[in-house]
Amino acid sequence: MVQKKKEIGLAIVGCGVIGRIRAMLAREYPGIGWIGLCDIDEKIGKKLAEDCQADFFTTNYEELIKRPEVNATIIATDENHHAAPTILAAGLGHDLFIEKPLATEAEESLNVLREIEKNKIDAVVGYTQRFRRRFLVTKERLVTGQIGHVTSVVTRAFMNRMVPIATVRRTNQRHNLTPMVVSGTHSLDMCMWLMEGKKPVSVYAQSIDTALSQYGTKDSTFGIFTMDDGTIFSMNISWALPVVWPGAVYGLEIGIVGTQGVIDIEDTHRDHVMATEIPQGAGYAPEGFKPEYNRHVDFLTSYPPGDIYDGQMWGPVREETNEWYARIHTGLKTPHATAAEAHSNLILTMAMDLSAARNELVKLPLDLAELKR
Ligand SMILES: NC(=O)c1ccc[n+]([C@@H]2O[C@H](COP(=O)([O-])OP(=O)(O)OC[C@H]3O[C@@H](n4cnc5c(N)ncnc54)[C@H](O)[C@@H]3O)[C@@H](O)[C@H]2O)c1
Repeated sequence: MVQKKKEIGLAIVGCGVIGRIRAMLAREYPGIGWIGLCDIDEKIGKKLAEDCQADFFTTNYEELIKRPEVNATIIATDENHHAAPTILAAGLGHDLFIEKPLATEAEESLNVLREIEKNKIDAVVGYTQRFRRRFLVTKERLVTGQIGHVTSVVTRAFMNRMVPIATVRRTNQRHNLTPMVVSGTHSLDMCMWLMEGKKPVSVYAQSIDTALSQYGTKDSTFGIFTMDDGTIFSMNISWALPVVWPGAVYGLEIGIVGTQGVIDIEDTHRDHVMATEIPQGAGYAPEGFKPEYNRHVDFLTSYPPGDIYDGQMWGPVREETNEWYARIHTGLKTPHATAAEAHSNLILTMAMDLSAARNELVKLPLDLAELKR
């Protein structure tokens, strides 16, 4: 039930692709009174500050987060830099929106979660796909028992290799920038959310790193989880599809089999194709990234956050962001992933990587000391 009207003083740390989208939407949201931005890249940050008419800009996240106007913070830095600003903002009692993954080290992720729980913070994580109608209707049908008891779930995520190439070029700390930790986490989150209540008890996975080893990451990881009620969940991702693949970013298939029915989701975007002589750039294009080859065929809508029309972003990222602003401003109940769910997702993606590295079945829940070793 909608109850409160809390004016939001918003800090956004990280003004890249995703920080920009959330900042532009913030400027349009009536419940936000003050916007402050931070980026270590002054040029990117100042440009966004100008475009969204921010009230404050700094290159030092501490200076921003400690401002008296701030009561809500978005952490939109790249993957390896989420933890420190999150812990600072949690300690100050801010509502939090953190981009996935919660952190890129298991222990760091646990520390972040502990700080959030200790301070009783409402912290959500950017699993944007939960805001799509096709997945919301699926969830509703499952929770109301329309296919009986779910016994088997199968997922296939295919990604254009432009995404890992653009992602890993930001850092030399690539050991945890694997297909599962960075991107498979989206489809894993979706399946875990759809199977809410079931707990994974083991996973066996295999990986290959032929095409992308030169970039310090793997091509593909396929695994099978067994849940506490015997349900089997097959989670497969390849993010090594060639640059010329028409899917600019993400294509997904999910099949859910129950005792009385099935839900089969085709989310590959093959139903919306553009072919053109005019070269198409990258679907996901952080500052400074130019793909090696041109693409001429494009599965439209395959960039998961959404698409630009008339200078504005439309699609799930818009709903996800605005619903988070409403969650703080009015107390609206929303389907955002919690920090606890995001931590669990990180550990499950890492368990797949561990199983593949050891070539053995890994029992869950995973002991973090074991993972560290
Ligand atoms: N929800 C989605 O669908 C989705 C899509 C793409 C990316 N993401 C996630 O969003 C996050 C950001 O990705 P992006 O595409 O915007 O990357 P990006 O490289 O475009 O932007 C990241 C920005 O953070 C800045 N930054 C890094 N460390 C900083 C620090 N300590 N203080 C201040 N600024 C800092 C960088 O200078 C850069 O401008 C990542 O975690 C990524 O996985 C989510």
